[in-house]
Amino acid sequence: QAPLRVGMLGLGTVGSGTYRVLQRNAEVIAARTGRHIEITTVAVRHLSRAANIVGREVVLTDDPFAVVNNPEIDVVVEVIGGTTPARALVLQAIANGKHVVTANKALLAVHGREIFAAAQAQGVVVAYEGAVAVSIPIIKALREGLTANHIEWIAGIINGTTNYILSEMKTKGLNFATALADAQRLGYAEADPTLDIQGIDAAHKLTLLAANAFGVPVQFDQVHVEGITELDSLDISFAGSLGYHVKLLGIAQRTSRGLELRVHPTLIAADHLLAQVNGSMNAVMVKSDAAGITLYYGAGAGSEQTASAVIADLVDVCRTSGTSPQHRVPYLAFQHSAMAAIQV
Ligand code: HSE
Repeated sequence: QAPLRVGMLGLGTVGSGTYRVLQRNAEVIAARTGRHIEITTVAVRHLSRAANIVGREVVLTDDPFAVVNNPEIDVVVEVIGGTTPARALVLQAIANGKHVVTANKALLAVHGREIFAAAQAQGVVVAYEGAVAVSIPIIKALREGLTANHIEWIAGIINGTTNYILSEMKTKGLNFATALADAQRLGYAEADPTLDIQGIDAAHKLTLLAANAFGVPVQFDQVHVEGITELDSLDISFAGSLGYHVKLLGIAQRTSRGLELRVHPTLIAADHLLAQVNGSMNAVMVKSDAAGITLYYGAGAGSEQTASAVIADLVDVCRTSGTSPQHRVPYLAFQHSAMAAIQV
């Protein structure tokens, strides 16, 4: 079969990791998919720096629209982050009939309805495993592994930066500012760390998890969001003396009144599994009617960790692009669109 030709937007931490892992594991990936995945073109801001990262077989350009409009490309990988110009680029790629793989949770949480509707109209895939708890295949678990279940609730530690800060405040007694500076230095935080500490990044991810689990449209504006900026190390130590850990949880839960979506600091009993999730690690617990409680754990950030998810989506595109749209496993199936999120 002809190789899957990939055009990538961005060659930062995630983009360079994706290139590196695809190179290193090319044979095993081809053996599993029956097809080679080739990054043919990359749009970057700094051409000379990029030339040191990718081989000469890759065409570099500083015009991202040249990538999404390139007729020689089957799939666009968007790893530039933010919503501008990512939204316009993704919509243009879809309009050109290209599949899209993105790790951009803010883009999908805020503009997901528009983007998924455009993809559905064009019969292309928009895949986003790398947008949520990167190393954990949680989107695939929800849309494939648990597909026979009614999901009752999801509770997750889905922001590595805040989990790192809370863990450091607890174990080392660090104050909030020092722990945040460490998290930034270690590369866990968003370019704008207020998205992490105010709970917004977790709310973006929760929105995507809930849309998958409950078949509702993406409803970021319905999430109740409270970050960790008001927490003091005294709060953490008082909680500890009462037998609790403080964790920033994203919770999506079916109630008799509708769907509850919330992100806030939560007291968790010290012997609960989620209380054992420390440092920048992520974990998602899911309660479903047939499978019962399942728990997923792994790194929530990192270059190759995110690459692992992005490439899994490319493999998914390889496997589905030969099938007609109605036979694909949908990335979002709005089966319960009557279930609106309620304000909590
Ligand atoms: N800033 C995010 C986090 C990175 O801390 O979890 C991965 O989404």
